[in-house]
Amino acid sequence: MAPWHLPGIITILLGLLLSVQRSLTNEILGLKIPPEPVLNANTVCLTLPGLTRRQMDVCMRHPDVAASAVQGIQIAIHECQHQFRDHRWNCSSLETKNKIPYESVVFNRGFRESAYAYAIAAAGVVHAVSNACSMGKLKSCGCDEKRRGDEEAFRAKLHRLQMEAMNRGKGMVHGVMENMPAEAPGPQDSWEWGGCSPDVDYGERFSRDFLDSRELYRDIHARMRLHNNRVGRQVVMENMKRKCKCHGTSGSCQLKTCWQVTPDFRMIGSLLKERFAVATIIRPHNRNNGQLGQLDHNHAPYRRRAGITDLVYFEKSPDFCEQELHLDSAGTQGRICNKTSPGMDNCESLCCGRGHNILRQTRSERCNCKFHWCCYVVCEECQITEWVSVCK
Ligand SMILES: *[C@@H]1O[C@H](CO)[C@@H](O)[C@H](O)[C@H]1NC(C)=O
Ligand SMILES: *[C@@H]1O[C@H](CO)[C@@H](O)[C@H](O)[C@H]1NC(C)=O
Repeated sequence: MAPWHLPGIITILLGLLLSVQRSLTNEILGLKIPPEPVLNANTVCLTLPGLTRRQMDVCMRHPDVAASAVQGIQIAIHECQHQFRDHRWNCSSLETKNKIPYESVVFNRGFRESAYAYAIAAAGVVHAVSNACSMGKLKSCGCDEKRRGDEEAFRAKLHRLQMEAMNRGKGMVHGVMENMPAEAPGPQDSWEWGGCSPDVDYGERFSRDFLDSRELYRDIHARMRLHNNRVGRQVVMENMKRKCKCHGTSGSCQLKTCWQVTPDFRMIGSLLKERFAVATIIRPHNRNNGQLGQLDHNHAPYRRRAGITDLVYFEKSPDFCEQELHLDSAGTQGRICNKTSPGMDNCESLCCGRGHNILRQTRSERCNCKFHWCCYVVCEECQITEWVSVCK
């Protein structure tokens, strides 16, 4: 936690970049930030602790994509912290020095919280990798080929429209309106692909290669993880948005080109949070003795049959009231609660009935965090002084 609390504006570097000279200055923020790093197997893979053998193989083949994936995991952890800020378990334990948090306690349990963590991390990888693809940052991917317009045909069409507009102008002046409707009846909702859409299929595939490859067995842990990874990825894929731009004479939108964008990551965090609330428990024992070669959604004997969009877990969560580190419970002593909140941060609930003190507190919080390519996060630090209720 310490790095967040340096005074002023802070830069959080992923470990893999610490060797980079910090020489460039960011014009907007006036910050010393590292130049774009060289992302090769040495700077990325060999400096990332916690990779499994198979992940290391993936990383060595595509170190730039792996760096982007790790950044995606970091973004996911930040989002998890936002979504759980009011909860007793608030996701802060996933922010470890090791940028791959899969060895942390919650990732090794079967809690509902674990399910969320897996899903959002997998979503973060899809999101970060496919965006990096479309920004042209990665060697092995670029714009989505399936959603690419015909650049040449587009230019020809635009040219024709411009000519028509010009002729129309002439026609008006000369009073000649031969075969020329006043309004070109462009079909209202027609559009075509243009610009660069992130290659989400590539992002999805990389997320699978990089994260699912951690699972060597097909026990209930693995079934849960693979399932939740997939739910996370699916949420990104299913919520891609379309952005469009109009072309034509004076804002007429005679020609519309569109491209896909990934959903705002906040939306991913919220959608998964909704699924967290209705997650389904799965049973360790099934007729295949946990030796399923693959998650089989039609036959896996779930208590309530888990749909492919449900987060699944197999272990009841502790109450996270007291410090129990083997359960990833930091306890809620010292947490700020809200006496009037109807939510999870209500003092009664957050303090687990232990009561609270009222204190005047000055604290600094990370705020306005921005993620920069590649591999670092820049946050501002906001000072807050206020009366707060704090759990006993
Ligand atoms: C999250 O919980 C930890 C441990 O109880 C606490 O130190 C931290 O301040 C909490 N973070 C937020 C944002 O409430
Ligand atoms: C406490 O919760 C109430 C109700 O949700 C909200 O209006 C208020 O702003 C909260 N107070 C603080 C200090 O967060």
